[in-house]
Amino acid sequence: MTAATYLSPQTAAAVIGSPSTTTTVTLNLLRSSYRAPVFGQMVAFETTITDPATGITHDEVALGTVTAIETVNPAHAPRAVEAQHVAAKGRIQGSGDEGDTRGVTVGIEAVFRRHEGTSSLLGDRVWQPAGSTLSNSPATGNAVALLTQERVDELMQGVPDQRWLGRLHGSQVTVPYVQGHFAGPRGSRHDVIAGTTGSGKTAATALMMACDLFHDSFGQIIVDPQGQWATEHGMPFSLQGLATALGRKVTVARLSRSLRLRKDAPMFTELLARTGLFTELAFGAGSDAQIANACRVFEDALDDRKALDKHTGTDDWTEADPALLLRYLLTELRDVLPTGTVYAGKDGQQRVRYAIARPTEEELADEGADAPVGRFRDGVLDQEPDNHGEAGGKRWANVVARFAPILNLWSPFSPDGARRLAAGEDPAGFDRSQLRRKAWPLMMDVFTRDESRPAPWLILDLSGDELLPVDAGAEAEGDAVDAAEAARLVLDNAGVKARIMRQLVGDLLRSGTSAFKAGEPLNVRVTFDEAWQYALQPDATTDRAIAALSDQLEDGARDARKIGVGFRFILQAPSGLREGIWKQCTGRVIGYGVSEQSDLKRLANVVGDEHLRLYLSLTGPEATGQYPFMVAGAGVTGLSFGSKPVFVDMFNDPSEWLRSNAGWVSDARRRWLQHLPGGDSGGSLTEMPPRPAQDAAVEAHVAAKALRSGAANQAAAKRLTAAKGTAAKGGFGMTPKTAVAPDDSYTDQLAQGADPAPF
Ligand SMILES: Nc1ncnc2c1ncn2[C@@H]1O[C@H](COP(=O)(O)OP(=O)(O)O)[C@@H](O)[C@H]1O
Ligand SMILES: [Mg+2]
Repeated sequence: MTAATYLSPQTAAAVIGSPSTTTTVTLNLLRSSYRAPVFGQMVAFETTITDPATGITHDEVALGTVTAIETVNPAHAPRAVEAQHVAAKGRIQGSGDEGDTRGVTVGIEAVFRRHEGTSSLLGDRVWQPAGSTLSNSPATGNAVALLTQERVDELMQGVPDQRWLGRLHGSQVTVPYVQGHFAGPRGSRHDVIAGTTGSGKTAATALMMACDLFHDSFGQIIVDPQGQWATEHGMPFSLQGLATALGRKVTVARLSRSLRLRKDAPMFTELLARTGLFTELAFGAGSDAQIANACRVFEDALDDRKALDKHTGTDDWTEADPALLLRYLLTELRDVLPTGTVYAGKDGQQRVRYAIARPTEEELADEGADAPVGRFRDGVLDQEPDNHGEAGGKRWANVVARFAPILNLWSPFSPDGARRLAAGEDPAGFDRSQLRRKAWPLMMDVFTRDESRPAPWLILDLSGDELLPVDAGAEAEGDAVDAAEAARLVLDNAGVKARIMRQLVGDLLRSGTSAFKAGEPLNVRVTFDEAWQYALQPDATTDRAIAALSDQLEDGARDARKIGVGFRFILQAPSGLREGIWKQCTGRVIGYGVSEQSDLKRLANVVGDEHLRLYLSLTGPEATGQYPFMVAGAGVTGLSFGSKPVFVDMFNDPSEWLRSNAGWVSDARRRWLQHLPGGDSGGSLTEMPPRPAQDAAVEAHVAAKALRSGAANQAAAKRLTAAKGTAAKGGFGMTPKTAVAPDDSYTDQLAQGADPAPF
């Protein structure tokens, strides 16, 4: 490992040639390496620098990547005298290795420095990172060798957090990952992961996040629009399993069933409109303005606590029974229609009114000459279960199937919980899977520093895949199933997701700021997968919600840095990220397959043309089974300190990651022994742990807690059943005031984060 062996001509592949500078060097390849695959490889060389003023000497090691190789042979030049002979014979004396030289261009990516000291302490003798520029241009003839594992190990000796991400592209040398957490002196950073579908972005991000586990106080929030992080489908190992095995609490909150949105009536009505609910109410095509008016009528009705209480038995619409709330809103809308605030014209007013409920004799009489003639079909409310058999009619079912799943996003109960409640089950017996939880306390939990545990992880799964139809007295059959499908599809609509995400990102920034005010900078990374859908450069055709979210993310990125939160955006093409965000990113990890001109231009601006050419020579994973990434940005890998990238093949076998990182992984497991999942008694990991199952202890804890607040539950349940029974049978205005839990229901308190859940 000493410089002497290192410099021996046996290992040298080249020597410094001319011209060379402090940032780019030209090499003369040694003949022994003419047949070696050198292109794209990293090389290392040493120089010694002496300060003439003090006489102090230090060594420098430079690392760089071979970005170009040129074969030079004067005899083969077209104007050479020998060219005629070459043309005649193909080969002459002086052709081939004997007469060739190879000019090699190397861009320097990292310089390490070591002072010659007399101290025997290792600390004085270890290599220290010293930027990406040599102190002086190197001397020709200096030996240059391919980078070896021994050399990397030697350079990393002084690095306390040795973590490993993969191998140098096309070699067996492992690549150190040195990106720190955000509470350090450099603060937080934003970065981008790009690459074509299947290039391994999600897996590479997972490997980097696995490395992040080194830092106990480093929390993670993953915004997961497609549920890939929640389900871990197609991931080469279980990141959740690994995090849990290092003592982390990992919470997966699913929009489809366990995440409860913050109360926001305009957002609720906007989502309702996107389900096509208003089409069911006979709003015609092109009635956007009228639908917006109707939404405002709904909003006013939702804000009217007294009326809400009267008609649904609760003054909080998020806790209302869907059927009761729907009936209340439709009745309000029907009553408002004649005032002209929704439809100015009589036709529209009548059409919607009678789609909601058939006209009564009285109403027809009042209409006088304007009264429509003929027979009337049932309106939605005419087909409510009580008016129309057990299950209600098709129209009612159709509307409920759109309405209830959307309302449920705000409910304290999961779809399953809501179904049980409707079936008369006592919520006191509900466990966590029957309840929804608010994002705010979950985020606060990640933001809040707590030395007694490693920082938690939170995965926000926003996919609609598992959205269940909510039974609200209507049997989901036939058309109603399609309507439930419509509600599910609504959640998978990019605009809807953006609307929801905007609330979550708002909560994230606000909860972060409030946690920040309470103490030191935060230390949390927020990863946005599928960012092309919403962190894009908006134009005139962009969905309003998406444009608003994109704006919020650009501004938010700026604010987040100040409080110690770093964003990571995962998307296919660099140009899919809006410029204002791209410019704020310092780390760029680019997988295979970026090829559009606009994207390459962005990349060239960052890494330069030489390295970009190297990037373009990468082969995709289908062909090689390797997942290569161009990793740019200072301080991501330990082999580059400037803007020039390092090419890394990510570990393609998770157990390789585990073997390389075994030391600190075992340390962390020892440190957090008391936080390991049940059944894990510690010790070193020999294989990647499986995805954690639902923890029985958690369920027991929640159940016990629910029992303790049994009284409140009973009241809540009673209130709902009572309201339902009375209102459904006796019409409006007859709901008796029932015992109501003071402010929030118990589920709310649970969700408010009072919960000291031990997981
Ligand atoms: N480093 C890796 N090791 C093992 N398998 C990988 C790796 N990277 C990607 N894969 C596999 O390739 C497929 C696509 O990877 P993924 O990370 O989902 O790509 P992307 O997010 O870029 O679309 C997945 O099946 C995944 O398991
Ligand atoms: Mg992916």
